[in-house]
Amino acid sequence: MAISASDMTPQALAALLSFYADSGVEELCEDAAIDRFEQSAAQSRAKSRPQAAAAPADSGQASGHPAASPQAERPRAAATAAPMTPAPQASQLTIPGEAAFEDARALAAGATTIAELRAALDGFTGCNLRHSAKTLVFADGNPQARVMFIGEAPGREEDIQGAPFVGRAGQLLDRMLGAIGLDRDTAYITNMIPWRPPGNRTPAPHEIELCRPFIERHVALAAPKIVVMLGNVASKSLLGTDKGILSLRGTWMDFQAGEVRIPALPTLHPAYLLRNPAQKRLVWADLLSLQARIEQLDAG
Ligand code: URA
Repeated sequence: MAISASDMTPQALAALLSFYADSGVEELCEDAAIDRFEQSAAQSRAKSRPQAAAAPADSGQASGHPAASPQAERPRAAATAAPMTPAPQASQLTIPGEAAFEDARALAAGATTIAELRAALDGFTGCNLRHSAKTLVFADGNPQARVMFIGEAPGREEDIQGAPFVGRAGQLLDRMLGAIGLDRDTAYITNMIPWRPPGNRTPAPHEIELCRPFIERHVALAAPKIVVMLGNVASKSLLGTDKGILSLRGTWMDFQAGEVRIPALPTLHPAYLLRNPAQKRLVWADLLSLQARIEQLDAG
């Protein structure tokens, strides 16, 4: 059900806006651009139209112009996808307490398959991000693949499609995979955080901690031979270091997934590369190192 301001009381609207502000939303805009010039031109046309022509018979036939239905004059954004999560209730919007962290740990630990983990995440209400996101963005690719890629969090396109790395950064990731002979059949792709943070802001530390048991369990259940962390958030939080990605990248480390240690390679995030294309040479070196490791697996 779409949230419409006109259906809400002023108090509910104020609570929702303050929720968005607390969640880090700094700008309010529609999913699709609205042509305000066209809107006001349409209003002026409507005002200057003789009363009779605007009456029920305003099908356009009398004037010889095509009908302008009420829908046609509505901004496009009003017709775009509705949020799938219900409007947040005030009680759901607090900073989570210890119970939410315990809940996350128990739910993640109780999942014995990837499908169960997905269902557990779907039922987890302790993270506020799920209330502003449209979808749960769980994973894409082959869960049996030997290489698992972990990004930061879904963006707008991922939130709409419910799959990770399907926007511009995802297209670049696909090219990066292709450069060393991988694709979504031979790689498994997920994110540290499965819900889009409002306005694509960086996830807050408590959101990362709430999602940590799920991603750690996800890696343990998928049991890849190699994990690649894309960008600062996944690398720093999963490898437990304060070092920035520019000093971490390209160095093989160990990631502890349950009982198992998995070789892990931090590298730059494709979204960063879109903004800093000159840094692609660094990622190319990391990809070659990854390819060499995969060849060792093939040989062994
Ligand atoms: N950036 C990410 O970290 N993950 C996505 O799924 C998309 C963009």
